[in-house]
Amino acid sequence: MTAAVNRQILLIETPKGKLASEHFRLAEAAVPAPKAGEVLLRTRYISLDAANRAWMQGATYRSALEGGQVMAGGALAEVVESGVPHLAAGDLVFADTGWQDYAVLPGKRLAKLPRLEPVTHLLSVYGIAGLTAYFGLLKCGRPRPGETVVVSAAAGSVGSLVGQIAKIKGCHVVGIAGGREKCAWLTGELGFDAALDYKAAPLFKTLKEAAPKGIDVYFDNVGGDILEACLFQMNLKGRIACCGAVSQYDGAPSAHGPRGVPGLIVVKRLTLQGFVVMDYDDERDQALADLQSWVASGKLRVREDIVDGLEQLPRALIGLLAGDNRGKRMVKVA
Ligand SMILES: NC(=O)c1ccc[n+]([C@@H]2O[C@H](COP(=O)([O-])OP(=O)(O)OC[C@H]3O[C@@H](n4cnc5c(N)ncnc54)[C@H](OP(=O)(O)O)[C@@H]3O)[C@@H](O)[C@H]2O)c1
Repeated sequence: MTAAVNRQILLIETPKGKLASEHFRLAEAAVPAPKAGEVLLRTRYISLDAANRAWMQGATYRSALEGGQVMAGGALAEVVESGVPHLAAGDLVFADTGWQDYAVLPGKRLAKLPRLEPVTHLLSVYGIAGLTAYFGLLKCGRPRPGETVVVSAAAGSVGSLVGQIAKIKGCHVVGIAGGREKCAWLTGELGFDAALDYKAAPLFKTLKEAAPKGIDVYFDNVGGDILEACLFQMNLKGRIACCGAVSQYDGAPSAHGPRGVPGLIVVKRLTLQGFVVMDYDDERDQALADLQSWVASGKLRVREDIVDGLEQLPRALIGLLAGDNRGKRMVKVA
């Protein structure tokens, strides 16, 4: 055993309004001991996801978080002690460890990850973010060369990959992000054709200029007003990949939904398809092979936003919801 103490970040209570550091507390517990069939894991990098906040609102594809628990979250973790034959000390896995140094989990659900450098890519482009971008765009958006693809939260972990994959597929790509610097990064470094700062000007006008032929595919990470603005610009038989609704996660839900629902969906014969990345687990190997070849050839650039120290987790999540991050945010624990 390398340490006698397991630092944990507890969610004290689920927030009624905006998430704040007061909702969390640092605690210490004993390092748990694995039983037969279990594995003791040391967390190395904890993934920060907008969904962490959505889990506090109620049951989603997982049960709702409750106060008094170790805050939930996925992590890249290293096996310390293994009670299962397919894992050995030193192996890396992706696991639902929660926000703590050590976790004991049943071994049967854990799969050994390949060793690659940098290992953080296992959480970003070869992790949930990359697979979400890949499947959401290609399976739900189904872009064709020459079409216009718009993506929101475009400078975030999923969005920054969606836009680049759409460029690889020969599309005209417009990103929507908060702030001039993020927008300049999208067009200057990631090759987006246009980027719109939704905080600076109303999207109804700027979207028309950036997508003069209308929108064929909208990859929706945010919902709310941005979804509404895109709905009005959608082309006939356009596709909307409903990936998430980060504008609705932190604080009181909006009193009304986007205008144009369902009228515009009917008139424009739109397809709105919700998905969860696990839906496509069967096609994971092909997705990873494509992502790896695009990264290797330099067509897909990976941006990681790494915050140092377990105690920074609450601040890092609150910051992600406020748009502090560029690319995939994670916290280095060990
Ligand atoms: N369906 C799935 O399987 C799946 C899997 C993973 C993630 N997701 C979804 O993917 C989306 C992105 O999540 P992520 O974890 O990768 O986070 P992320 O995009 O790296 O970070 C969240 C970003 O959302 C933007 N944002 C925050 N509030 C906003 C608002 N009111 N309006 C517009 N943009 C806002 C911020 O950027 P700005 O500075 O641009 O505002 C922030 O950087 C989320 O909706 C998440 O739920 C879905």
